[in-house]
Amino acid sequence: MNANVLRKLICLNCGSPRLSNTAISVVGRHHKDAASETLKCGVCGSVYPYCDGIIDFADTVPISSNLSQWAMEFRPLVTFYEHIWRPMVTKPFSDLDWEIKTVQKLLNIAYGLDVLDLGCGPGNFTRLIADGVKSGVVIGFDLSLPMLKQGLRTIAKTNALNITLMRGDVNRLPFAESSFDRIHCSGALHLFPNLTRVFMAIYNILKPGGLFVAATYCHGGGFVKRQIQDCIAASSGFHWFELQELQDLADEAGFIGWQHFVRKQGIVFCVGKPEMAV
Ligand SMILES: C[S@@+](CC[C@H](N)C(=O)[O-])C[C@H]1O[C@@H](n2cnc3c(N)ncnc32)[C@H](O)[C@@H]1O
Ligand SMILES: [Zn+2]
Repeated sequence: MNANVLRKLICLNCGSPRLSNTAISVVGRHHKDAASETLKCGVCGSVYPYCDGIIDFADTVPISSNLSQWAMEFRPLVTFYEHIWRPMVTKPFSDLDWEIKTVQKLLNIAYGLDVLDLGCGPGNFTRLIADGVKSGVVIGFDLSLPMLKQGLRTIAKTNALNITLMRGDVNRLPFAESSFDRIHCSGALHLFPNLTRVFMAIYNILKPGGLFVAATYCHGGGFVKRQIQDCIAASSGFHWFELQELQDLADEAGFIGWQHFVRKQGIVFCVGKPEMAV
């Protein structure tokens, strides 16, 4: 376990985001699996399994009844998600290559930065980020265990030793305040509940001067497209944003320096945490 990763963690049960010196440590094997370790909070004793390369902060989260999240946990879909599902499903509403290029430009990744990839799925963006930061810590965070396991298999074929994968719910982020230089979230913001809370939490765990970059989708297009979007929203819990809604969420959380780029209904935006943020 990378000590720089451990330093960023807080206990979900007793930790406060303002606690930078957290009490979580690796204590040994997880009882279910002799090859795994356990993270333990030294204050309240909560344990978080660290099995087969994934730290689990969502051990007790129930499987979602929401269709979108059910799909993200459905193994056959997860297997062909990265190379078939993601580019094809994105095509009518955006363009994946454009999203990747725009995200990379806005993230302005440099050597040694610490980056959190929220809703990382199988790590398709996580690996690109890790390649850019080299020695920095890159954490891929997602609720879907099948997605993370798929990510682990792909990462194992690369030299990306700086990636740590974690399972958890974006509404309960186990990170200390001011932990990351960059937070990235592509293809996932429209699936998250409690967006006001999510934007505030992201602001909190970014370092002053840090950037939050996300790719998501806005409501729009012609009549037929809007009908399709409404059907998707009603059946799956997918949320199509209004541009102003995203800007308001960012403003209310305290972000500055809004920039955005649009392709069809796809939007990639970037905001910053002020250098002098307290
Ligand atoms: C469509 S995938 C995006 C994967 C990748 N970032 C990309 O752009 O291709 C959305 C991911 O968000 C994750 N997700 C949805 N709700 C979440 C939540 N509440 N907490 C953490 N991850 C969540 C899903 O498990 C899924 O892997
Ligand atoms: Zn604790």
